[in-house]
Amino acid sequence: MRVGVIMGGVSSEYEVSMNTGREMLKALDPAKYIGIPVPITSRKELLEGVAGLDFALLALHGTYGEDGTVQGALETLGIPYSGSGVLSSSLCMDKGLAKTVIRSKSIPTPDWLCWDSINEYDPEAVDRLGYPVMVKPNSGGSSIGMTKVNHPQELRGAVEKAFAADCSVLIERYTTGQEITCSILGGEMLPVIGIQSLGADWFDYSAKYEQGGAKEQIIQLPAEVEERVRTAALACYRALKCAVYARVDMLLVDGIPYVLEVNTLPGMTATSLLPQSAKAAGISFTRLLDEIITGSMR
Ligand code: DAL
Ligand code: MG
Repeated sequence: MRVGVIMGGVSSEYEVSMNTGREMLKALDPAKYIGIPVPITSRKELLEGVAGLDFALLALHGTYGEDGTVQGALETLGIPYSGSGVLSSSLCMDKGLAKTVIRSKSIPTPDWLCWDSINEYDPEAVDRLGYPVMVKPNSGGSSIGMTKVNHPQELRGAVEKAFAADCSVLIERYTTGQEITCSILGGEMLPVIGIQSLGADWFDYSAKYEQGGAKEQIIQLPAEVEERVRTAALACYRALKCAVYARVDMLLVDGIPYVLEVNTLPGMTATSLLPQSAKAAGISFTRLLDEIITGSMR
């Protein structure tokens, strides 16, 4: 079976995606799959790269990749692809809309505001939300363009920075808690990972990707907390219509999980969070890719 690993893309997470793609290619089971690198940065490369593939394994992140657009193109071309479909991908990529769905299911998520233009800038609304806040590009990933704002005088600069990365900006109440991430594979939650950023007071780009930037380890939660986490993670996964696999990022505050976002194409190098969770469940990276491909073909 010819499996094209679609990687690169045009989003700010290009480098992250290339790493994901390279590691997926190394790990694909050679007895079952012929792995074909499909690096793309243009429509032409996408269209030419997917011709003749039996399956598209998506190693893309962010805009034109994680957001449903490539999924739509592949649907139109009749090429099966990994993970969530068009609607779920685009919904999860819009953090504000995803939070609206999450809250509609009574799943806790920090309070937020969303602005679609700098003309909507309203510092009083942020005062009402309460400082500190996280200012995020609404459709961003890997914390690029994101700032923690402690004081009102830092707000404008942070909002402008986020608008430089996206046409929509999310302002979310910052909550102190334990960062955790819940990977889901085939409708089941894998072991939970706790994240402790070292140096930074939140899980920013360097904490995510630099050696020693963060301590990420499987954590044992008290049974009732773990059950709350599982219930919230799976409820989000279902409410946002995710398929095959996803990673739900949360903050644990006094044993209550607050959902920050759901990633439909989370980082997938062998040492990324979801593969680490799978490994803790006895699923090797090679088997994980196999389960993703098999699950996506159904
Ligand atoms: N956006 C990055 C790739 C992640 O969620 O892992
Ligand atoms: Mg994300």
